[in-house]
Amino acid sequence: MRIDIITIFPDIFVPLDVSIVKRAVDKGMVEINIWNLRDFTKDKHKKVDDTPYGGGKGMVLRCEPVFAAVEHIKKENKNSKVILTTPQGTLFNQNLAKKLSKTPGLIIICGHYEGVDERVCSIVDYEISIGDYVLTGGELPAMVITDCVVRLLPGVLPEEAPVYDSFHQYLLDWPSYTKPSVFKGMRVPDDLLSGNHKKIAQWRKTQAEKRTKERRPVLYRRYVKGEQNGQKGNRRD
Ligand SMILES: C[S@@+](CC[C@H](N)C(=O)[O-])C[C@H]1O[C@@H](n2cnc3c(N)ncnc32)[C@H](O)[C@@H]1O
Repeated sequence: MRIDIITIFPDIFVPLDVSIVKRAVDKGMVEINIWNLRDFTKDKHKKVDDTPYGGGKGMVLRCEPVFAAVEHIKKENKNSKVILTTPQGTLFNQNLAKKLSKTPGLIIICGHYEGVDERVCSIVDYEISIGDYVLTGGELPAMVITDCVVRLLPGVLPEEAPVYDSFHQYLLDWPSYTKPSVFKGMRVPDDLLSGNHKKIAQWRKTQAEKRTKERRPVLYRRYVKGEQNGQKGNRRD
């Protein structure tokens, strides 16, 4: 897969150069390219923003360089899907990440200032928000989307690993512990220390369900519905 990110802050993407994403890049499972929007301007000042029509505060990213950047990248990977990061978009979640991980490529546009000229939406496949809050720019959302999608690419994680993560089939993950078995009077639950695989699996399933029910009731209802419809609601047992 190929991921192209268009930004006015190309130096900010250090988190994509560590850990799982870096290993995926090193192994050739994903190619990540960071493009400086200024390189797609035509004027000598490399102007990427301008004042909004109608007046008002703030600046807006101009559509010409954004169009030029997307057109340029599409020449190299014509089937890439284009994402605009915006607090007004569809809320990003694990299901959307799974869908995006099956595309041949992603071009992610990072907005800034008051956002991008609305006409950019005409070349966008997905407008995505990473949450109901407003960030300064689309760089953090682009990194969130990239990290989440790359983890789901075949071979990046051990085969079953995403199955044990939160949100797989609408469940949160179970509590985890490591050594020592007692710390400041807090004991690791007996079932986990029992060595009995069936008991451990049952404990984990019960905890995941309890947690989801308490913390995310809407998610829990979807999980229960899946179980009732005969879908295998939990591959952790
Ligand atoms: C300061 S924000 C602009 C907010 C815009 N005026 C609004 O209220 O919808 C600048 C840029 O940050 C990015 N951004 C901010 N919050 C975001 C979020 N929750 N999800 C995705 N992108 C976000 C977008 O690219 C946006 O264009």
